[in-house]
Amino acid sequence: MVRMVSKALNKMEILRGFIQIPTKGNLEFIGNTSLPCLTMLNGNPARIDKYGRLWSPYLKRRFSVGTKVELSRTENGYKVAPNESTQGLLPSETRLNEVKFSGPNLEKAIAGPCSKAYFQAGPICIFNDDILKIDAIKDNSIDLIVTSPPYNVDIKYETYDDTIPYDKYLEFSERWLTKCYGLTKDDGRLCLNIPLDKNKGGQQSVCADLTTIAKKVGWKYHATIIWNEQNISRRTAWGSWMSASAPFVIAPVEVIVVLYKKRWKKTSGSGKSNVTRNEFLEWTNAVWNFSGASKNKVGHPSPFPVELPKRCIKLFSFVGDVVLDPFLGSGTTLLACLETDRKGIGVEIDRNYCELAVKRLKGYGIEQQKLIG
Ligand SMILES: C[S@@+](CC[C@H](N)C(=O)[O-])C[C@H]1O[C@@H](n2cnc3c(N)ncnc32)[C@H](O)[C@@H]1O
Repeated sequence: MVRMVSKALNKMEILRGFIQIPTKGNLEFIGNTSLPCLTMLNGNPARIDKYGRLWSPYLKRRFSVGTKVELSRTENGYKVAPNESTQGLLPSETRLNEVKFSGPNLEKAIAGPCSKAYFQAGPICIFNDDILKIDAIKDNSIDLIVTSPPYNVDIKYETYDDTIPYDKYLEFSERWLTKCYGLTKDDGRLCLNIPLDKNKGGQQSVCADLTTIAKKVGWKYHATIIWNEQNISRRTAWGSWMSASAPFVIAPVEVIVVLYKKRWKKTSGSGKSNVTRNEFLEWTNAVWNFSGASKNKVGHPSPFPVELPKRCIKLFSFVGDVVLDPFLGSGTTLLACLETDRKGIGVEIDRNYCELAVKRLKGYGIEQQKLIG
């Protein structure tokens, strides 16, 4: 079997982040594994497509055009190196995705075999389960939770009943907040997207109530971000029209409550951030202005836009961290994980929404595939 091939990298390979395995010896080099498949490259997640191209974010803009590299087989996948010392390596600030993933099956966060998962590929894992009952995720393993739980505002979900009495809703909130507290690392964080308040089915101070419950179960409060969702109206009634007798007022915003488990200062993880200067300046001003997602386009009754988890992930976690969404819905948080080089775990009670999440992930080029070693 061929163990090594050499080639010079062209512009397209550098810009898009792949290496076309030379046709000569290609079959022997890949072995008899059917393509496409997932693999590892220099300890980073990678995949080989059906044309024999080895893709990895690790490769993107890593070398300069024309660099001669040697690609060799290793125990877990492949290794690439320029064949004349470090010639051709771009300066470190232009290199992307330096951080090594611990392995494609998220083994550090997932208890037991990943076969329990509904879907697993590279740094992504989905469980079709109830967050209150799931035992497949290890305690003290999650760096960041980004989620939007049901709001109890009569949204027509396929499985979950979104019209339970408010006291039962608060009980449910306490249970899942307790469960997620256990799953999170001591320096882990929770970004909780909820409405400020609600008037459908009776006025309730949802944000104040859930923040109080979160603190009661142990979460510590850090901040509240106001999300000015520019394309919505939360109005369902005027109350007494043009009369002070009983008018309704409602703020057309949602919030993201930022909480943490024990310590705000994050010490675990890679220590590498990929938030840019301008993003940091803009996003640390806690009034965020961007539009919501379209239910019809996404095919889920209450998706948030990728922008929301993306901002939370880049601001509050390091590259390579494990992010959990316990109410995955259509999978938006996992798309944000792929965009930001994080590992992502999603839990969703409804099978059809799991399927929708998988479909959206496939649109990002990630497929459930066999690993080759
Ligand atoms: C507000 S939606 C989340 C939408 C998601 N952020 C997105 O962008 O698509 C809440 C989701 O939680 C799911 N759900 C409700 N109860 C659950 C439970 N106990 N465990 C896991 N998922 C649950 C619902 O089926 C629904 O898809």
